[in-house]
Amino acid sequence: MSAIEAKSIEFPPQPAYDAGTLALKGARVTLRRPVMTDAHDVFAGMNDFDVVKNLSRAPWPYTLHDAVSWLDGVENGGGPRMAYPFAIVTGGRLIGTVGISNHGDAIELGYWIARDSWGRGYATEAARLAVGFAFTHLQLKELEAGHFVDNAASGRVLTKLGFAYTHTVARFSKARDCDVDCRMMILPHARFAAGQNDSEGGTDHGG
Ligand SMILES: CC(C)(COP(=O)(O)OP(=O)(O)OC[C@H]1O[C@@H](n2cnc3c(N)ncnc32)[C@H](O)[C@@H]1OP(=O)(O)O)[C@@H](O)C(=O)NCCC(=O)NCCS
Repeated sequence: MSAIEAKSIEFPPQPAYDAGTLALKGARVTLRRPVMTDAHDVFAGMNDFDVVKNLSRAPWPYTLHDAVSWLDGVENGGGPRMAYPFAIVTGGRLIGTVGISNHGDAIELGYWIARDSWGRGYATEAARLAVGFAFTHLQLKELEAGHFVDNAASGRVLTKLGFAYTHTVARFSKARDCDVDCRMMILPHARFAAGQNDSEGGTDHGG
């Protein structure tokens, strides 16, 4: 039932987000709208095959021009497939991005963290903030996500948020230039809300 409902949900209009005032504050990271001055940080993080190979749509090699093009798209509305992109910021620096986007019929969560910031819980905290935004501000009933079969770390991030595996699809990886098995997961709003009330808690959902 809920999967069908999610497919019929349209994103609300973007002005509330485009106002540029929205900041989702966690204990250690803040999510805000990406801006062109983030280009060098985006490039620095994405100029790493071990990051880009785990994303479906990013090109490899990844150039500064790719970062500028992506940010230009964000500043001009983001396009239909990355409707709500956020910079993940800590210590005044962009260390990654997270976003809620249309992917085919589904609305999906996606993210990356620069290698020098891996293993500190930043992806989990940032994704939790973005998921809270999706359920609270966009009023989605459920959210999907998928990770390539060889990306267990992302599976762990999603599992910690309450996502559960549903099925596996072959998804094209632009960087690898081939289809890769992608393990799809789903998170109903109710399960996320229940998880937030559990002992894990502690994150300021902001926004
Ligand atoms: C996946 C990624 C986002 C994780 O970022 P991060 O900030 O290091 O993630 P966190 O620290 O919040 O959590 C990582 C979890 O994965 C676990 N982990 C790390 N490497 C792992 C591995 N090889 N196998 C299983 N679990 C692993 C960590 O132990 C941690 O779990 P824990 O908190 O239970 O100990 C980051 O590695 C990345 O950007 N990778 C490239 C892009 C990408 O994969 N994006 C997601 C596409 S679906």
